[in-house]
Amino acid sequence: MGRCVGCGEWDTLVEERVGGRESKSSSSSGRAVKPRPLREVELERGSRLSTGFAEFDRVLGGGIVPGSLVLIGGAPGIGKSTLLNQALARLSASGIQVLYISGEESAAQVRLRAERLDHSALDVPVVTENNLSSVLSTLEKERPKVCVIDSVQVMHSDQLVSTPGSVAQVREVTAALMRLAKELEIAILLVGHVTKDGGLAGPRVLEHMVDCVLQFDGDRQRIYRVLRAHKNRFGSATELALFEMSESGLDEVKDASALLIEQSTGEPGSCFLATIEGSRPLLVEVQALVSPTEAVPPRRVAQGIDRNRLSLVLAVLARHGRLPLGNFDVFVNVAGGIDIDEPGADLAVALAIASAAKRQVIGGLSSDGAPTRTAVFAELGLTGELRYVTHPDRRLKEAAKFGVELAITPVEAKGAVLSCEGLEVKACKHLREALAVALPSKASTHTSVIPRQDAVGSR
Ligand code: TYD
Ligand code: MG
Repeated sequence: MGRCVGCGEWDTLVEERVGGRESKSSSSSGRAVKPRPLREVELERGSRLSTGFAEFDRVLGGGIVPGSLVLIGGAPGIGKSTLLNQALARLSASGIQVLYISGEESAAQVRLRAERLDHSALDVPVVTENNLSSVLSTLEKERPKVCVIDSVQVMHSDQLVSTPGSVAQVREVTAALMRLAKELEIAILLVGHVTKDGGLAGPRVLEHMVDCVLQFDGDRQRIYRVLRAHKNRFGSATELALFEMSESGLDEVKDASALLIEQSTGEPGSCFLATIEGSRPLLVEVQALVSPTEAVPPRRVAQGIDRNRLSLVLAVLARHGRLPLGNFDVFVNVAGGIDIDEPGADLAVALAIASAAKRQVIGGLSSDGAPTRTAVFAELGLTGELRYVTHPDRRLKEAAKFGVELAITPVEAKGAVLSCEGLEVKACKHLREALAVALPSKASTHTSVIPRQDAVGSR
């Protein structure tokens, strides 16, 4: 059957091989294993292998763990092969034995790409193979420390009749590689294609089999790429790294904040958010556009933040910020294609929208006539209160580092006073207060300063 009678999906049935399994009755005849306290378990420290990209290492939790299986997913053309080719080149340059197994491209195609990269990229040994048993034999013979398999979808096992890329094949291939990786201590970086909507079943079933799942995202049209950990048995699963695609491969972006805010115009509708991504603080620009509409319901478009979160912020703004936007379309975007999924973004979204609606820049103008560089962070409660979020000190430091002059923050837990050198910190209890600080003067007397003629269709 090609179609599951349970869920109605196509090609999700998985072939199980029955032969070779132990029968149920033998389960009690196994060897008993002696438990020992965790304290007595040895740790292997300092054995991680560096990819030569500090950012890549950080996302992995400090480098590649020998014998681990890492899945790198991403849409075709995003740069997975490029990144891994560069990583292998750097590993090989530091004396680590590597191997690139290409099942998709010919050796000549791989070489063509490598020619654009560092010259050590041409030292990487390559094998073109998509038969699982040949791959396993090759690995057993060559015994590299790190191996890239590009991609898991094209590998196939002769033992199964289903086509390469099907759930059964992908699962079989991964299980076999997992066994070999652990046995021979070969770290395997597995490339997996994922369509934009995550529709392809293949790599999804892998996620619980492998040690790490990294996602390589970005717009092919744009030069920035985001590498993000979704699962990591050896480190934090919230890390993020930024790369830039150039003429000679990918470059890591060390000052991500500078890059993300450099194009900001400081116009109304723009608000800096001091956020935390994994272990790193990051300054991003939240942009909003508010435009009159007769559409019912009005449009709410969110990019980079959760749409439900936007609805919540709009409701709180209407009730507690006296800014009803029922007759306006609202668009919110996080510049640079970054996805923010922390509640600490609420205040930035609220202020960006308020600033757009009131056509007033956030923070007002400083003495030299330029807008006061303002960064904010706080979660919005349903009663309009600003709630405490994690690592306020690190957020403030990052803001100060990039020339922010004013920060609007929630009041600290236990009444601690927040401060940061080179930066004025305004701790607010309520959205009303934050609005008054961010959009001073006229804000306090008018409910909305959107010019009347814009408010057509208001009922
Ligand atoms: P690729 O790594 O093959 O993507 P994937 O393996 O994820 O499918 O390359 C992606 C794109 O990057 C390709 O369209 C060409 C471009 N590119 C550059 O812009 N600069 C470079 O130095 C390289 C090697 C590729
Ligand atoms: Mg590729």
